[in-house]
Amino acid sequence: MPLTIRDLQDYKRQGRIITALTAWDALSGAWVDASGCDMVLVGDSLAMVSLGHPTTLPVSLGAMVHHAQAVGRTIHRPLLVADLPFLSYQCGAEQAVAAAGRFLKETPCQAVKLEGAEPETMAAISRLVRTGIPVMGHLGLTPQSVHRLGWGRQACSAPDQEQLRQKALDLQQQGCFALVLEHIPAVLAGGLRRELDIPVIGIGAGPDCDGQILVTADLLGLTARQPPFVKPRLQGAEMFKQALQGWCHEQRHQGQTTHPPKEGNPPTPDC
Ligand code: KIV
Repeated sequence: MPLTIRDLQDYKRQGRIITALTAWDALSGAWVDASGCDMVLVGDSLAMVSLGHPTTLPVSLGAMVHHAQAVGRTIHRPLLVADLPFLSYQCGAEQAVAAAGRFLKETPCQAVKLEGAEPETMAAISRLVRTGIPVMGHLGLTPQSVHRLGWGRQACSAPDQEQLRQKALDLQQQGCFALVLEHIPAVLAGGLRRELDIPVIGIGAGPDCDGQILVTADLLGLTARQPPFVKPRLQGAEMFKQALQGWCHEQRHQGQTTHPPKEGNPPTPDC
């Protein structure tokens, strides 16, 4: 049986750290499922990791559902959550319910994540929770607002910290079951971990959180542009490149010994 939002809330009460990773297809889903993590996020970061976009903004709802279906085929124990993509919930609560409903009806996802706490987003979250759809909040660096906020650390001044704190309390009040805090000062995240009853899951928010989440491709060293708060566990891109180059080299070498060039065709140089 997969974990539920109640299990993760119990983990917070028990002081057990929640581990969460992202996945974008069946292959990455199988990797994170085997890791023993507690939550898997089909994050809209897949727009960058898997689809090659420069930001998360272009990925469509249909594409997110498609990827969530693929991930869902390989996930067994972790709670499965999907990101509602840009403009699938900002334009009204009805639209948010329809978008989130697709994940709950067409994929094995058990919950959705929304970024920010603007009044429209709060209205959407309230409506989703009342409809029975669990919602995870996301504050701090919210990549769907990258053109306004940039990629840098957020909530560095005292007024910004107080504003973020108030938004976090509002999200809990609105019924979010957990909150992601991205790229904010550790002291702010730690304070919120103590103040909130719901689990605080950090990413670049220091160690004093109820749980940690990372983009799996960053952790495996597969992405070209690493965020400053991730230390890759291996140089995945380089390892894959070398393995594939090695295979190509071997095939050409074997071909040269088993397939002598035909009369008049000079051998192709092995690069
Ligand atoms: O899209 C994503 O992968 C995320 C994580 C960075 C939290 O939202």
